[in-house]
Amino acid sequence: MRHLLSAADLSTEDVATILDLAEEMADVQHRSIKKLPALRGRTVVNLFFEDSTRTRSSFEIAGKWLSADVINISAKGSSVSKGESLRDTVLTVAAMGVDALVIRHGASGAPQQVTGWIDAHVVNAGDGMHEHPTQALLDAFTLRRHFGADTGTTAVESFVGKRIAIVGDITHSRVARSNVLLLRLLGAEPILVAPPTLMPSGVDSWGCELSDDLDAVISGVDAVMMLRVQRERMSGGYFPTPREYTVGYGLTRDRVAALKPGTAICHPGPMNRGLEISADAADAANSLILDQVAAGVAVRMSVLYNLLGGEDDQ
Ligand code: CP
Repeated sequence: MRHLLSAADLSTEDVATILDLAEEMADVQHRSIKKLPALRGRTVVNLFFEDSTRTRSSFEIAGKWLSADVINISAKGSSVSKGESLRDTVLTVAAMGVDALVIRHGASGAPQQVTGWIDAHVVNAGDGMHEHPTQALLDAFTLRRHFGADTGTTAVESFVGKRIAIVGDITHSRVARSNVLLLRLLGAEPILVAPPTLMPSGVDSWGCELSDDLDAVISGVDAVMMLRVQRERMSGGYFPTPREYTVGYGLTRDRVAALKPGTAICHPGPMNRGLEISADAADAANSLILDQVAAGVAVRMSVLYNLLGGEDDQ
């Protein structure tokens, strides 16, 4: 694997390789001595033009636990705030000797463009409304463990036929786009549930069941993946209103009660508690939200190792 830009770049075998290695990395995560020497001498730069808590810190921890040198650069506090362009910023960072660049940017396609400017491996840590492939991988890791608990297997086959509702602000969600690609690859059946105003144009071609009625869907799914309402991307106003949104599409206490026993509750974070997800749902026994966060470290260790750990790169 040269870069990780899109979930569409991955084969089933790639996903199995990444998730299986992430299982081994998760074992390391739970040991008292966490550092592995695998990426000693390698440099990973986290270049974030948008805010992040989970993705940036988990890539940092992942790199450090593999003994890479990890540098964090945010747009705020860098020369980007003085007007330096993306290209000049990336070339400047690369000139210092970087092996992998983990980039989050508000423009869809920015990580792809960066691959044409530098030789380092590039990882898309979220580009605009386009994709967030490591989020989809960590969601798959978390759900595979959950589904495998029934079958005694962690094979990717445990996704086949699983109905997974992805609920909310589909229009602005890079998480939804990457998850649809990955879940369909693994044989799951994503169902997109959203008010018509938050369902993107062209969604008919995504190959998913579509619904604007969460209550009609909720009791027939194996997992429900709630999305953050991205108010910062709604320049043209916010409809439905927050109250209408919660009534129609929030994972309320009543909707939690309507789930089949054992239905997984997921959310990529950060959550708008009280808007798309209630405290009853976020803190329920079948909520996997903190498992997703923990999986982020193991999966990103696996991704960095798959990019940088090969013999050809040493
Ligand atoms: N899920 C996710 O990308 O969270 P952050 O924005 O905190 O990285």
